[in-house]
Amino acid sequence: MESKKLIIAIDGYSSCGKSTLAQELANSLNYIFIDSGAMYRAVTLYCLRKGWVNGNFLDKESIIKSLDQIQLDFSQDDNGVKVILLNSENCEQEIRKSYVAAVVSKIAEIKEVREKLVEEQQRMGERGGIVMDGRDIGTVVFPNADIKLFLTATIEVRVERRLLELQNKGIETTKEEVRENLIQRDLIDSNRKESPLKRAEDAIVLDNSLLRREEQLQWALEQVQIRKSNPT
Ligand code: DC
Repeated sequence: MESKKLIIAIDGYSSCGKSTLAQELANSLNYIFIDSGAMYRAVTLYCLRKGWVNGNFLDKESIIKSLDQIQLDFSQDDNGVKVILLNSENCEQEIRKSYVAAVVSKIAEIKEVREKLVEEQQRMGERGGIVMDGRDIGTVVFPNADIKLFLTATIEVRVERRLLELQNKGIETTKEEVRENLIQRDLIDSNRKESPLKRAEDAIVLDNSLLRREEQLQWALEQVQIRKSNPT
């Protein structure tokens, strides 16, 4: 008999390696991987292009009114890498740029944006067999997730990781810009009114500052095994 397909939620601060772990865990288990942060980034890109967010300016009313015109999907590029589509356009590369990162937390604070994306995320996970990473996955999107992981790492490690990720994608930035953005986003994400980033009480915490990718994957697979042998 095929074993039950679980819902695995991974939350944590910016650049803790959540998406890397979620992707690798999903590959190992043959589950679907959903990067919920990419969805907030894609909505942000749409708003930037419309001129509804710019520095401290935010046209919340126009954003809320147009939410039903934003269609998000996940697909694969020619190399089999998961990418997000914004109204059918592959915007995976664009959403990682610093001008999007600089304002995404403002868009993610809007209640109506969260309601739309949470509903879509819940639909994607309806049948289980999913690993989703973000900020509110174990608390709001899937409060009954089978496994909840909460990742942390020191700010130095996180800055280095994000810098490397951006460099590998050919995106130009500086260490200072990355550090400032991570600190700012964590501050807004943790203190916003709507579903702030916080650890679910039943989440298992992992500080992965000193772990290699293979080690953290191994650790996560062990948590899955433990959970499967202790079904509730
Ligand atoms: O994971 P990321 O850095 O790509 O996420 C981008 C932003 O989206 C992050 O600063 C906060 C927001 N976000 C959120 O509010 N809730 C989620 N589930 C995922 C991301």
